[in-house]
Amino acid sequence: MSAVIRDLSDDDLEAAFRLDQACFEPAIAYDRSELRWLMDRPGALGVAVEDGGGLVAFAIAERRGRMGHLITIDIAASARRRGLGRRLFTEVSRRLREAGADEIRLEVDVRNRGAIRFYESLGFETTRTIKSYYGRGLDGYEMVRGI
Ligand SMILES: CC(C)(COP(=O)(O)OP(=O)(O)OC[C@H]1O[C@@H](n2cnc3c(N)ncnc32)[C@H](O)[C@@H]1OP(=O)(O)O)[C@@H](O)C(=O)NCCC(=O)NCCS
Repeated sequence: MSAVIRDLSDDDLEAAFRLDQACFEPAIAYDRSELRWLMDRPGALGVAVEDGGGLVAFAIAERRGRMGHLITIDIAASARRRGLGRRLFTEVSRRLREAGADEIRLEVDVRNRGAIRFYESLGFETTRTIKSYYGRGLDGYEMVRGI
């Protein structure tokens, strides 16, 4: 079955929460209320990927003026390295551009080599290291790309 891209809705909260818990270690994963807040706040842009009737990937971004911010992108382990992340990012990027952004910023755990390579493959460049971004001793890289 081919993957379908659609808006992320409130009904996806539980599945998105479970996927996020599976994608990230506890110090980095969102809890339910954080995820709900990120999905619902003004300017939020959520995109879901469904395959075989279930949520296999989602991304949340937001726009502030001309800056888009990719908050998270989560692909189920069973669906990785098939181009889904790139497809999902392309859709988020298109929506951010339509909403008026001309740049995308994100933060990524400095230890998350796979995600860093993924973002580099999409043309992101590391602009700085943010000390303890994910909590004490857990640094993040800020990465930026034009849209
Ligand atoms: C990072 C992530 C989003 C990539 O999604 P994906 O669907 O597997 O990525 P794609 O298949 O679209 O990969 C596109 C390109 O990115 C690069 N890439 C992706 N994952 C990679 C990895 N683990 N190691 C090295 N390069 C990688 C490759 O260049 C890849 O092209 P190729 O497969 O032809 O070599 C996914 O692994 C994921 O959800 N990880 C857990 C959550 C996470 O870390 N999210 C990002 C941090 S906010």
